[in-house]
Amino acid sequence: MCGIFGYINYLVERDRKFILDTLLNGLSRLEYRGYDSAGLAVDGDKKNVVCAFKEVGKVAKLKELIEESKPDLTKTFESHAGISHTRWATHGTPSRLNCHPHRSDVNWEFSIVHNGIITNYKELKALLETKGFRFETETDTECIAKLTKYLYDQQPDIDFTVLAKAVVKELEGAFGLLIKSVHFPHEVIAARKGSPLVIGVRTSRKMKVDFVDVEYSEDGALPAEQASQNVAMKKSATGLLAPPDKSLLHRSQSRAFLSDDGVPQPAEFFLSSDPSAIVEHTKKVLYLEDDDIAHIHEGQLNIHRLTKDDGTSNVRAIQTIELELQEIMKGKFDHFMQKEIFEQPESVVNTMRGRLDVANKQVTLGGLRQYISTIRRCRRIIFVACGTSYHSCMAVRGVFEELTEIPISVELASDFLDRQAPVFRDDTCVFVSQSGETADSLMALRYCLERGALTVGVVNVVGSSISLLTHCGVHINAGPEIGVASTKAYTSQFVAMVMFALSLSEDRASKQKRREEIMEGLAKISEQFREILKLNDPIKQMCAKFFKNQKSLLLLGRGGQFPTALEGALKIKEISYLHCEAVMSGELKHGVLALVDENLPIIMILTRDNIFTKSLNAYQQVIARGGRPIVICNYDDPEFSSAQTEKIEVPKTVDCLQGLLNVIPLQLISYWLAVGEGLNVDFPRNLAKSVTVE
Ligand code: G6P
Repeated sequence: MCGIFGYINYLVERDRKFILDTLLNGLSRLEYRGYDSAGLAVDGDKKNVVCAFKEVGKVAKLKELIEESKPDLTKTFESHAGISHTRWATHGTPSRLNCHPHRSDVNWEFSIVHNGIITNYKELKALLETKGFRFETETDTECIAKLTKYLYDQQPDIDFTVLAKAVVKELEGAFGLLIKSVHFPHEVIAARKGSPLVIGVRTSRKMKVDFVDVEYSEDGALPAEQASQNVAMKKSATGLLAPPDKSLLHRSQSRAFLSDDGVPQPAEFFLSSDPSAIVEHTKKVLYLEDDDIAHIHEGQLNIHRLTKDDGTSNVRAIQTIELELQEIMKGKFDHFMQKEIFEQPESVVNTMRGRLDVANKQVTLGGLRQYISTIRRCRRIIFVACGTSYHSCMAVRGVFEELTEIPISVELASDFLDRQAPVFRDDTCVFVSQSGETADSLMALRYCLERGALTVGVVNVVGSSISLLTHCGVHINAGPEIGVASTKAYTSQFVAMVMFALSLSEDRASKQKRREEIMEGLAKISEQFREILKLNDPIKQMCAKFFKNQKSLLLLGRGGQFPTALEGALKIKEISYLHCEAVMSGELKHGVLALVDENLPIIMILTRDNIFTKSLNAYQQVIARGGRPIVICNYDDPEFSSAQTEKIEVPKTVDCLQGLLNVIPLQLISYWLAVGEGLNVDFPRNLAKSVTVE
């Protein structure tokens, strides 16, 4: 729920202005991850002095603070390490003090930025207080800074990596963190456990190899004495923290960054929670995996792990990302959300590209190919997700049941974990997540892995935790989604999962006709999206006319349109703050009807499907109570021909795809409602795009 950005230049002379601008710009790209306060740490004018700036509010406020304090922007640094952070408070209110970077002491010997939660911070804090440390913030992060100094003071000739390993070993919970230190000028440690970190590399010369070797402790384990002390501390927090053991260091040179004669080359490194903040600097990136500790020093990048043989690869590839800067810019739109709504005709095509072959009636999902026959034989498929992603799972449940005839359940990740729901080896568990980092979904994934189930990821962000940890999966390829309210990820998840159901049913002769019908429907979806987006202006006017100054709104749908109603209601709530409730039309008569009168605004989804007549019952019930619903229906439906009926007309598609079309007017309604209230839809209050805490 926070954003981390770091910039390191080695033998590439940069002035302070460049360094500060790079950090601030990186933070503003990550602002969607959290934006209640922001801070950064860079080198001061004198040797071994750190200059930190922290401010409450958005990155723009931090920029103002820096401008007001008038640092010497012309001072140049041949080599330098800067770290920064945009925060979304979990421990301690947004304040200058609680904002990152956190420091080990008044001299900022160690500065830390951190994303995630350290669950044993109270024990660590209590222990460090007995060693004389005085804590100044309410955060969990501060204990990392103090712990680092404590361990360093035990053995001041220690190597930065050995120190970092000793620190990381004591931390429980989730983290992505950067450490900067006056004792290791121009160096940075980046460590990751459960919270994403990606490293961009810019060099003037071509790198020798496109990977970085992973290095391990020499014996692959902690010395017995130290290990037992760690255990003791974890149990009681009363053990003494042992000084780090230098023998744990295994030194090697990172081949990628050396010249032919083995000399390090000028290089710049960009560290971030998200590649979207890096792409404008370099396309060469390396994704850290959980438990990796990266050390950037003297133009080199070394990756260390505490233990060998943990099943991870011995190298980390330096990949070329295909993200373009304009994909993460608003362009002609006022908000990212608006841009992403309007991108949907292209984003769904990208989801299907190279996968759906309508002419030959074939679907090929490369990431699932090896597993499809195993999934066909599973006892049930459990979809697990949160928020909008949960709604997309609900939306495809029917088509999965119909095409695969495998029992399907759809679970909210938090509830699934609360219940400790039974999971078996012959279950297939599908984790659906735009970010691939949502803590509840990630924990549910670990839970299912422990129980031996086959796990599938349906994820947008490549290299995210869920995409790395699942056995197989589908990237939805919707492109970066930056607006906090998810829109194009929903439609792309929907399409990706329909293709998944089509793949699973490929061997079923009885389903072929239906499969072909669905594929033909998918082929037309993009064009139909374009049609619906022409409703933008009428919907804007409708919002001003019907929903201004309302307290509440009902959204009614049935069958496949109930998930559409749920998703529409979530969109409206999260960005316009108008209470909006999705009601399954069949349930209307069991209580909710009491709310209906001539004043309550109601939207009913009444596109034609096999339960249309049942949906009409609910419509009649509402009309009979004086309600005047706005109807989302197909073009020219005679049922709603009366001039008095307020309607939003959408094209018709195959019943199981209709929700894809119907959700778009609801996205537009939520957008225009929020804009009408003067709200910034990209920064809704109390919400963040990526929720990496439980
Ligand atoms: C947060 C976001 C939602 C999102 C949900 C799940 O609550 O505000 O927009 O749907 O997380 O996120 P995921 O990345 O797992 O799809």
